Amino acid sequence: MRAVDLIRKKRDAGEHSPEEINFLISGYTRGEIPDYQMSAWLMATWIRGLSRPEIAALTEAMLHSGEVVSFPEIAGRKVDKHSTGGVGDKTSLILAPIVAAGGLSVPMISGRGLGHTGGTLDKLESIPGFNTSPTLAGFRRVLGQCGMALIGQTAEIAPADKKIYALRDVTSTVENIGLICASIMSKKLAEGIDALVLDVKTGSGAFMQKEGDSVRLAELMVETAERMGKKAVALITDMDQPLGRFAGHSHEVIESVEVLKGRGAADLRDLSVELSAWMFYLGERTGTVDEGRGLALKLVASGEALDKFRQGIALQGGDARVVEDYSRLPQAKRRAEVGSLAGGFLAATNCMEFGVALAMLGGGREKKEDQIDPGVGLEFHKRIGDRVTAGETLVTIHYNSESRLNEARHRIAESFQFSDRQPPAKRLIRRLVGA
Ligand code: URA
Repeated sequence: MRAVDLIRKKRDAGEHSPEEINFLISGYTRGEIPDYQMSAWLMATWIRGLSRPEIAALTEAMLHSGEVVSFPEIAGRKVDKHSTGGVGDKTSLILAPIVAAGGLSVPMISGRGLGHTGGTLDKLESIPGFNTSPTLAGFRRVLGQCGMALIGQTAEIAPADKKIYALRDVTSTVENIGLICASIMSKKLAEGIDALVLDVKTGSGAFMQKEGDSVRLAELMVETAERMGKKAVALITDMDQPLGRFAGHSHEVIESVEVLKGRGAADLRDLSVELSAWMFYLGERTGTVDEGRGLALKLVASGEALDKFRQGIALQGGDARVVEDYSRLPQAKRRAEVGSLAGGFLAATNCMEFGVALAMLGGGREKKEDQIDPGVGLEFHKRIGDRVTAGETLVTIHYNSESRLNEARHRIAESFQFSDRQPPAKRLIRRLVGA
């Protein structure tokens, strides 16, 4: 078999056999197929799509590119959550400590920033010293000691996703249902969980902007989890505007800590509690989702979830003092305001553009080798439905370099739409799949 023939086959809308998909994935993981050939195959796949059998074969090949872990030494249920990604989406940092404080184990394998979205690993790495790539033994130890461990794909676990994810990020080959399903499910099925809660975003800041596409992706992922014997549910949630008030790495860590302290933005708190509640329910810690909500709120109010976050940071080598002293996190030196170009009710946002603007300021990657600037961020002052006067500040940009500030500022200003009438409130949770 030759990679060049498989690229041509997909370019010409052919369907791959499982053997062909295995050849591509194992060859690329071992370094025998170079980046340029995998990039070409990804683009052909993005354009031509994958059939259901191809998606199943791709998920299996990526899953078995590394170890499939199990934790027989850890009693109790293991549960996880994964989001398809959005702007300001930081719930993992909040719900992992809540759920671990509630007695379940959360072995979470996350990703870096992808496209216009931020990644959990990059956010955690803004905490000085935090190690997102421990050995498998280190992962086990941290999980056993505190009930949560947040790591990235490694050379041992989901190595194919580690490499392909980084390539998709910089080749505009992210927004494809089959590639997203295989990426997410290969990581999640490798981490030894009993149950999985999926947060599938929909709207202008999501990879799947139409609700129907988000539902299709959710159904595919729930079906894949169930085929592998895992309980799963997907929540289709709003991404027509950023989640919470901040986007950007340090800022999102601070906002997460605020929620763990019982404060923070209402939408972020509500979604974190809802996802935690489903994790408690699927993990059989509570008999109903409603009991799960009560438990999540109690663990925040008592400070137990915040203590768990501190413990988790310290065990992964991070400076847990950031929880009390936010100045220990990297901060941008300068600020600029973005004023509203019009007056009226804020009706909609082109939310993806906020993520692109943030990346331009250093908060994302345009090439695989790019370093993230964790201090840059966007602070959003208005939500859809708010009344705004022309010139009023909509966003504060926290930045370090002037080089692309104007371009970012224009993108942000032009990403708000206004109307004379107040738009109906958007529901944060649109639907459930697989409940
Ligand atoms: N999150 C992932 O882990 N992979 C994707 O492809 C998209 C979102």
